[in-house]
Amino acid sequence: MSAGAATEGAKKPFLTDIEEIRRRARQQMNQGAVTSGYRADRQAVINILNQALATEIVCTLRYKRHYFMAKGIHSQSVAAEFLEHANEEQSHADMIAARIVQLDGEPDFSPAGLLTRSHSEYVEGGSLTDMIREDLVAERIAIQSYAEIVRYLADNDPTSRRVMEEVLEKEEEHAEDMSTLLEQIEKEASERAR
Ligand SMILES: [Fe+2]
Ligand SMILES: [Fe+2]
Repeated sequence: MSAGAATEGAKKPFLTDIEEIRRRARQQMNQGAVTSGYRADRQAVINILNQALATEIVCTLRYKRHYFMAKGIHSQSVAAEFLEHANEEQSHADMIAARIVQLDGEPDFSPAGLLTRSHSEYVEGGSLTDMIREDLVAERIAIQSYAEIVRYLADNDPTSRRVMEEVLEKEEEHAEDMSTLLEQIEKEASERAR
């Protein structure tokens, strides 16, 4: 910001015309949380959030499958981790769906085309190691695409950005969890092979 703009900003009261803001709020009541101050391309944001929603649903399903299929020496602790992640992905899906509704959009829960809308894949994985590896890949994909979404939303839709930042933070934890598990299991497997 230039010094000129700063002075100009300082001169202006924060709420220039409270009456006008009240009038507009009453006029467009059917638009819920979306006011004329909304700066993003609403439809574009809804579409992006629906892709994130599909990603979360696919991640929930994949972790659920892995939870029920986890077998072997580590099965109990790893299965517990899979279940915890499944539940967290489910809550991410809920947060994103709720935000879509706030934007006057419709959350897309349709199973048709779910994998096409999702950024990450649904891979069943044969062994426990395969499952963990696939989950790690999926988390890393989600981290990359959510970071891009956060940058896209920037200051144009700070509420959606905060939702996605919260989800992103969790996915980074998930990736860390999976990578730690993978290391442990691989280390123990190589010790047994000796
Ligand atoms: Fe998630
Ligand atoms: Fe995750």
